[in-house]
Amino acid sequence: MREPYGFPIENIKPKAKVFSTPQGVQSKYCGITYREANSSKHTANSYLKEEKALEDKCKVIAIANQKGGVGKTTTAVNLGVALGISGKKVLLIDADPQGSLTKSCKIDNADADKLEVTLSELMAYEMTGEDKDYILINNSIKQFETVDLIPSNISLSGTETALFNCMSRESVLKRTIEPLRQKYDVILIDCMPSLGMMTINALVAADSVIIPCEPSFLSVKGLDLLLHSIAKIKRQINPGLKIDGVLMTMVDSRTVNAREITSALRDAMGNSINVFNIEIPRSVRATECPNAGESIFVHDPGGKVAEAYALLTKEVNGLERKAQVRPRSFGVR
Ligand SMILES: Nc1ncnc2c1ncn2[C@@H]1O[C@H](COP(=O)(O)OP(=O)(O)OP(=O)(O)O)[C@@H](O)[C@H]1O
Ligand SMILES: [Mg+2]
Repeated sequence: MREPYGFPIENIKPKAKVFSTPQGVQSKYCGITYREANSSKHTANSYLKEEKALEDKCKVIAIANQKGGVGKTTTAVNLGVALGISGKKVLLIDADPQGSLTKSCKIDNADADKLEVTLSELMAYEMTGEDKDYILINNSIKQFETVDLIPSNISLSGTETALFNCMSRESVLKRTIEPLRQKYDVILIDCMPSLGMMTINALVAADSVIIPCEPSFLSVKGLDLLLHSIAKIKRQINPGLKIDGVLMTMVDSRTVNAREITSALRDAMGNSINVFNIEIPRSVRATECPNAGESIFVHDPGGKVAEAYALLTKEVNGLERKAQVRPRSFGVR
């Protein structure tokens, strides 16, 4: 007996999955009736594409700005930990040879500069074109508070140079993290302050980008260049890349300058680019976090920066809910 789409049922991966339908929750393959194939405008291909989207629920977010010191690493750590607290499986990737993310996260018995397996080794292996080495990938992953972390150190600067002589050099990081998409709900990539090959790799690997920006004249001016690069990558390599939003960081709302720059940026972006409603306030407690090796949620859980990152997490989760592929009830009554 053949199923409506002309496939024998065993070829449609008959895993029992539970879907929400307007009629309530029901299993896709058990206790359902199908519409006749010809009455549905969905083809087998679109059906299988939806299947794939549901299986690959991971979202990869690059945290990028070529301007230095604007709060990229701080945002990666605290947004990551907050998403972890909210119940998501989160992986942080340190894509900066400075290793700031790695050094900001206290990892048991680990000196960032002496780690044997880092992102650099994983990417170097990917460049050889061999089959995936899952043991190497597993060995690179460290635990920090509510998240996992792939660390980096100065050896990553050698990887950036090596990328120039490599085939499909823009997508090495994307290929490196491909097997990890099944394991995590969110992967956050902390980018280095440049628009070099490593940042391009992060933007090609990402589904979306968050742009931390300090309310200063030069930071805002630098956004043009970044937005131009993102548009180019979207046009030429990664058409699915979205901008989740610009995040104002280290905002001292007592100063007129910060207030004016923030409001001018919101006006300039208009409806074309989201600027997150929440602004991360400047606080000495946040400055202490890297030295303590803790996220703000451990270091100062009741403070204003922890509250701001918690609210940012709500906004980011809200964006994700909007964009989520909703299982449609086609073919199912
Ligand atoms: N909300 C905040 N209040 C006060 N200080 C902050 C805040 N956020 C970040 N900082 C401090 O600002 C400095 C730069 O932050 P961070 O390292 O996150 O920026 P970055 O963009 O990752 O820098 P780089 O471009 O060098 O990678 C750090 O010393 C950090 O502790
Ligand atoms: Mg950084």
